[in-house]
Amino acid sequence: MTTTLITGANKGLGFETARRLVEAGHTVHIGARNAERGRDAADRLGARFVQLDVTDDASVQAAVKTVEAAGGLDVLVNNAGIEVRGEDNGIPAAADTTADEMRTVFETNVFGVVRVTHAFLPLLQRSAAPVVVNVSSGLASLAGLSAPDSPAHFYQAIAYPASKTAVNMITVQYAKAFPAMRINAVEPGFTATDLNGRTGTQTVEQGAEIIVRMAQAGPDGPTGGYVDVNGPIPW
Ligand SMILES: NC(=O)c1ccc[n+]([C@@H]2O[C@H](COP(=O)([O-])OP(=O)(O)OC[C@H]3O[C@@H](n4cnc5c(N)ncnc54)[C@H](OP(=O)(O)O)[C@@H]3O)[C@@H](O)[C@H]2O)c1
Repeated sequence: MTTTLITGANKGLGFETARRLVEAGHTVHIGARNAERGRDAADRLGARFVQLDVTDDASVQAAVKTVEAAGGLDVLVNNAGIEVRGEDNGIPAAADTTADEMRTVFETNVFGVVRVTHAFLPLLQRSAAPVVVNVSSGLASLAGLSAPDSPAHFYQAIAYPASKTAVNMITVQYAKAFPAMRINAVEPGFTATDLNGRTGTQTVEQGAEIIVRMAQAGPDGPTGGYVDVNGPIPW
């Protein structure tokens, strides 16, 4: 039996990933910072709820104890993420970006990934087939955002894409450090969720596909990659 923890799984891509992995037979822990939203999501899916705010050490430590007591962990999906939006759900302009905004976004998207991964490493190392999926973004791609002919070139904000580029580097470095684990960064594609005011062009079913696939990577599967549903994408 495979046991999986998904952070930020009470809605959006995390919830859909949880739904699919429950369907595939995983025991799924729904990590959510809000107990009511998390319990409700877990009840709807036949999953377990664990209180987990990725920005809070005490919450993460308590979640480790809960997951350990329930039998351990095989798959960690670092999904929780935020994007700061401006008025009318607009993408913040480069000139308006402040260090505080940057810190807020990095606290969840970057430090959160390290806080949770670091805390759960001992449990993952006890698994026979440990897997980590870091939910990155196409906006993480330096190649994509710097190429004038790329569809992502228009995107001008600083904090969110920089945070996801950091997630990609963290993925590469963890993958080298832990060769027995399958550790990959995934780009779900532009998906209609609360993150973007439901402006995304894909459904959550489409967006979760690559997260679900990499969560099921076997011991001989790829590691240290950056992939979307069609395969590896430029860093
Ligand atoms: N949607 C897209 O087009 C798209 C594209 C590429 C990548 N992504 C990435 O996909 C991931 C999921 O995003 P989504 O689109 O599904 O957005 P979403 O519907 O807004 O879901 C985000 C989830 O993260 C949770 N979260 C935020 N801060 C948290 C914290 N400090 N601790 C624990 N959970 C926290 C939210 O919980 P609350 O309900 O409590 O706020 C929510 O469950 C993110 O990493 C995002 O960057 C999304």
